Amino acid sequence: MDEKRVEVQDAWRQRAHIDDAGYRKMYAASVADPEAFWAEQGKRIDWMKPYTRVKNTSFEPGNISIRWFEDGTTNVAHNCIDRHLETRGDQTAIIWEGDDPGESKHISYRELHAQVCRMANVLRNRGVGKGDRVTIYLPMIPEAAYAMLACARLGAIHSIVFGGFSPDSLAGRIKGCESKLVITADEGLRGGRKVPLKANVDAAIARLDKDAVDHVVVVRRTGTAVPMEPGRDVYYHEAAEQVTDDCPAEAVEAEHPLFILYTSGSTGQPKGVVHTTGGYLVYAAMTHEYVFDYHEGDVYWCTADVGWVTGHSYIVYGPLANGATTLMFEGIPTYPSNARFWEVVDKHQVNIFYTAPTAIRSLMGGGEGPVKKTSRASLRVLGSVGEPINPEAWEWYYRVVGDGRCPIVDTWWQTETGGILITPLPGATALKPGSATRPFFGVTPEVVDAEGKVLEGACEGNLCLADSWPGQMRTVYGDHERFEQTYFSTYKGKYFTGDGCRRDGDGYYWITGRVDDVINVSGHRMGTAEVESSLVAHPKVAEAAVVGYPHDLKGQGIYAYVTLNQGEEGDDALRKELVAWVRRDIGPIASPDLIQFAPGLPKTRSGKIMRRILRKIAEDDFGSLGDTSTLAEPLVVDDLIENRQNRP
Ligand code: WT7
Repeated sequence: MDEKRVEVQDAWRQRAHIDDAGYRKMYAASVADPEAFWAEQGKRIDWMKPYTRVKNTSFEPGNISIRWFEDGTTNVAHNCIDRHLETRGDQTAIIWEGDDPGESKHISYRELHAQVCRMANVLRNRGVGKGDRVTIYLPMIPEAAYAMLACARLGAIHSIVFGGFSPDSLAGRIKGCESKLVITADEGLRGGRKVPLKANVDAAIARLDKDAVDHVVVVRRTGTAVPMEPGRDVYYHEAAEQVTDDCPAEAVEAEHPLFILYTSGSTGQPKGVVHTTGGYLVYAAMTHEYVFDYHEGDVYWCTADVGWVTGHSYIVYGPLANGATTLMFEGIPTYPSNARFWEVVDKHQVNIFYTAPTAIRSLMGGGEGPVKKTSRASLRVLGSVGEPINPEAWEWYYRVVGDGRCPIVDTWWQTETGGILITPLPGATALKPGSATRPFFGVTPEVVDAEGKVLEGACEGNLCLADSWPGQMRTVYGDHERFEQTYFSTYKGKYFTGDGCRRDGDGYYWITGRVDDVINVSGHRMGTAEVESSLVAHPKVAEAAVVGYPHDLKGQGIYAYVTLNQGEEGDDALRKELVAWVRRDIGPIASPDLIQFAPGLPKTRSGKIMRRILRKIAEDDFGSLGDTSTLAEPLVVDDLIENRQNRP
């Protein structure tokens, strides 16, 4: 394959934390002696009781156990706030940019301290303490960061649910971790449109056992009047007046859970990914510094939502642990116009910008004009995350947005990994558009074939990690068995990522996408099983099978094959109804893009749906269906091809 290579620019050699030789040396040391390497790196955060034991991890079947710095104690909020007060109390910690371009504010580290203490006291007054779960369902407002850090301060465990999820999805996540308290807002505001967050919380709670939730704390965002349940609901601004802005940070064990984040898998309902305290913070802070070549004084902007892991690690925890100025954006890339990102870059003089390929692709459609009318001279590093970045989008990002000056760090990682695992380092790594390039320090990728054989050199196969890193998830909340089953049973002794990848002759990794029944829609993960179970819950649907297909803007779109109950007619009205049904059930990100009504699905004689065939037809690539000899009824395939929905 002919690969373009972008060499490290001279300007970068001058300033970067590390060069290529430095990377190679440090990487070799990190995998030769992880104990010694991480013992040193652990010092980037403050410990209340220092650790003596660094790594205690096992990927052995029956004994999956991941513990880092386990005899140390610390507190994440202390590390993200208090320890900076002496040296940078007046420095901006968070720049908040509202949905409306006229609205923004700067929050200093000192102010962040006061706000987080106040929020912590409001929670504590409502019975929240160490180990208790708190569900956060907030828009992108500073209170989202305050709420996260307030939980961390008390040793409580937060579970953030993205504001785009439906009441049903929210209810499942509240129930899953038994949160007694929910923090929300009256409404969210995105692209000029209001999101009924409090109403969704009310609807979610109505689906739960009476008394499941004791308290709902409501932040006022838009000021719209919302129903308040006496004794249960309280406005945050009123509760905050009743408490002081002083609240000690509780020392917790390194392995004390910091947060739960629900994510989709190939089977069943979303699982609660558990991240803990010490190793997670060390890893988030270290990757933030090296991957973005973060230097003192930089203004850093990650455009993710705090409802996703990217927001956890790279809007809040990593940057604040490093004493950075982190920008939090409430809006969307196309409001009020598709120049918004670049206008915000100029307005706040952003140096480091981290976004998703889907955003780049959607802006490419608007041409270079909206970009070129802004300066963007402050930009130094561009980042990408969430899905493979196609070379056209890479080129546009590099050439048009970065004016050919800024390296692009294509960062591969997952909710489960806590932080970035495969990525270029600015100034150290020659770039190849579309490749996440090389492993971060301490990360041991392996490419294995279907039988589990570890492949050498240039190869293609499934991506595994041979050993633990400090940011790794520790368990599935309440279900350690599922943790082992999902990640450690496919290839014994290794963590299996669910991704396929290619490794080239330079040792660069090219992630090719999921090899399981997970699809990636605009960088958001969706389990096909979840969409299927929503569809079959519709009274007119007998059976459904969902697959991903290539989509110009979203990366992958959702293609649903639906078999209706006898006597039902499939038409456009029913298509609309089913889309609305899934949106209501799961949330807008799960909306099927294409629905094909199918009298029958291709099955083996034992009744297993042959997804391989469904994927091919959805990709409009039915010339090579492969072996169909095991089909119970070969004729259904002809009907599927004839009525396929994805035609150019
Ligand atoms: C899946 C994880 C981790 C932050 C956002 C998504 C895909 C993520 C890349 C990339 C190719 C990528 C993978 C991965 N993915 N980043 N740079 N290149 N693919 O987190 O929802 O847990 O999804 O996103 O398929 O497994 P997530």
